[in-house]
Amino acid sequence: MESLLVVALATVASAWTYSPNTSYSATISVDASQKYQTMIGGGCSGAFGIACQQFGSVGLSPAKQELVTQILYDENIGGLSIVRNDIGSTPSTTPGDVNSILPVCPPTPDGPFDYKWDGNDTCQLQLTQTALKYNPNIYVYADAWSAPGCMKTVGTEDNGGFICGVRGSTNCSGDWRKAYADYLVQYVRFYEEEGIEVSLLGAYNEPDFNPITYASMESDGYQAKDFLEVLYPIAKAAFPNISIACCDATGARQERNILYELEQAGGADLYDIATWHNYQSNPERPFNSGGKPNLQTEWADGTGKWNAYWDVTGQLAEGFQWALYMHNAFVNSDTSGYTHWWCAQNTTGDNALIRLEYDSYYVSGRLWAFASYFRFARPGSVRIEASSNVENVYVSAYVNTNGTVAIPVINAAHFPYQTTINLNGIKASTATAYLTDNEHNVTMMGQTQIGSTFQVTVEPRSMKTFFLS
Ligand SMILES: *[C@@H]1O[C@H](CO)[C@@H](O)[C@H](O)[C@H]1NC(C)=O
Ligand SMILES: *[C@@H]1O[C@H](CO)[C@@H](O)[C@H](O)[C@H]1NC(C)=O
Ligand SMILES: *[C@@H]1O[C@H](CO)[C@@H](O)[C@H](O)[C@H]1NC(C)=O
Ligand SMILES: *[C@@H]1O[C@H](CO)[C@@H](O)[C@H](O)[C@H]1NC(C)=O
Ligand SMILES: *[C@@H]1O[C@H](CO)[C@@H](O)[C@H](O)[C@H]1NC(C)=O
Ligand SMILES: *[C@@H]1O[C@H](CO)[C@@H](O)[C@H](O)[C@H]1NC(C)=O
Ligand SMILES: *[C@@H]1O[C@H](CO)[C@@H](O)[C@H](O)[C@H]1NC(C)=O
Repeated sequence: MESLLVVALATVASAWTYSPNTSYSATISVDASQKYQTMIGGGCSGAFGIACQQFGSVGLSPAKQELVTQILYDENIGGLSIVRNDIGSTPSTTPGDVNSILPVCPPTPDGPFDYKWDGNDTCQLQLTQTALKYNPNIYVYADAWSAPGCMKTVGTEDNGGFICGVRGSTNCSGDWRKAYADYLVQYVRFYEEEGIEVSLLGAYNEPDFNPITYASMESDGYQAKDFLEVLYPIAKAAFPNISIACCDATGARQERNILYELEQAGGADLYDIATWHNYQSNPERPFNSGGKPNLQTEWADGTGKWNAYWDVTGQLAEGFQWALYMHNAFVNSDTSGYTHWWCAQNTTGDNALIRLEYDSYYVSGRLWAFASYFRFARPGSVRIEASSNVENVYVSAYVNTNGTVAIPVINAAHFPYQTTINLNGIKASTATAYLTDNEHNVTMMGQTQIGSTFQVTVEPRSMKTFFLS
């Protein structure tokens, strides 16, 4: 059964397309006078020791370690800019876990706190440094899955539990909230000493979910208020420019609940960026974050086999589908960026953007969806109004800080659309088109002189980004 499926996939090289005798047309309107969110970018993670696979632990040669990282982060290839690092909570070196900077927990919250930096961070430092080589403006998101065990009700990094000191916490030797806040800030300090700025700091990963088997910690919005009111001032005093995240819930709805309760508890100002994952629910509408930005900080299909396709079966790990997920988040929920789960992993599953197999690597169509947005809508760009008059052509638009404009268009039809793009409030004289479909990976297709309107063809089942300068 399984081998038949593989044969079927291999022979059906691409989803169908056709050229109808009538020409289908669409009109897109882009209006720079209507502005929305500022973009942060796209990214991925090397948490749980997976960064070590990107840096040779399963046989990837040093040259390919560089190449794979360059493919992800180079402005002219993958275009990513976010690295999400796991602030480890494991007291010893354990395969598949991330080392804690506090290997020995003191008996009480008064200390002593003997922080240790191993100059490695379970290969996440090397991932961050190498990404910085190819993109000097990496946005580092340092995020803890759990506090060290001694600071929690369960006494261990696994099994969920609460931070000792928040409402509802029992079985505690004291109030460990300040100790946990200091610990998170110390991690940022170690990166600063390596010359790397952490842009965003998070104390939680999926606090609505208790997986038992790996580092995890629970919290609702009220309990988050009890901790964030300690963390926020301590972190800002140490690093005035740092942003504080809340709270990496498993889904957008779960995140909304936490944000709502945080506000009910009086903690609406104790975070800067609403961070959420897309596993258990989709964003669908604006976040209740009081105007603060929101960022999708982790997602992958996670259950399927490796899937590198752009658009073959319509399965949700395909690149074309990811282009639409991002479109919907950016347009319907004002989401500022999108972070895939792992960057590069030695695997036969579909959790990573790049699959490693010893010294070989394979790039997924998902990365080309990220690249079609983020090579052109760079960090700091501002989304502007863009709409299409037909349901199966999706458009968004972004103005970069230097005035250039990116217009990613997705054609979900199986036939081409002759498209008129009308511009309002944009001064540009040239449009360059980059196509991604089953045969093209963000390939430059041509350049044309433009006025306030221009005509283009958008190929079937493709994403075509128009870069205006
Ligand atoms: C296009 O027109 C030709 C000639 O009339 C016809 O044979 C063909 O089936 C048409 N194709 C489509 C997709 O309608
Ligand atoms: C970092 O630590 C891992 C083990 O966790 C090791 O395999 C790797 O070689 C180290 N990297 C560096 C750059 O020292
Ligand atoms: C209470 O804490 C102790 C020590 O940290 C731990 O061994 C025990 O499992 C905890 N009990 C519960 C119910 O979590
Ligand atoms: C904070 O950011 C500003 C503007 O980017 C920069 O000039 C300043 O040096 C930063 N301050 C610190 C403490 O990093
Ligand atoms: C690396 O991937 C291959 C399959 O692609 C698998 O057989 C091997 O066990 C993996 N090795 C590790 C250490 O994960
Ligand atoms: C596009 O990338 C895919 C992997 O995502 C690769 O298999 C294919 O050869 C590339 N095609 C071109 C034209 O570069
Ligand atoms: C403007 O910024 C974009 C995105 O970073 C870059 O690709 C482009 O070269 C810049 N253009 C000019 C004229 O500086």
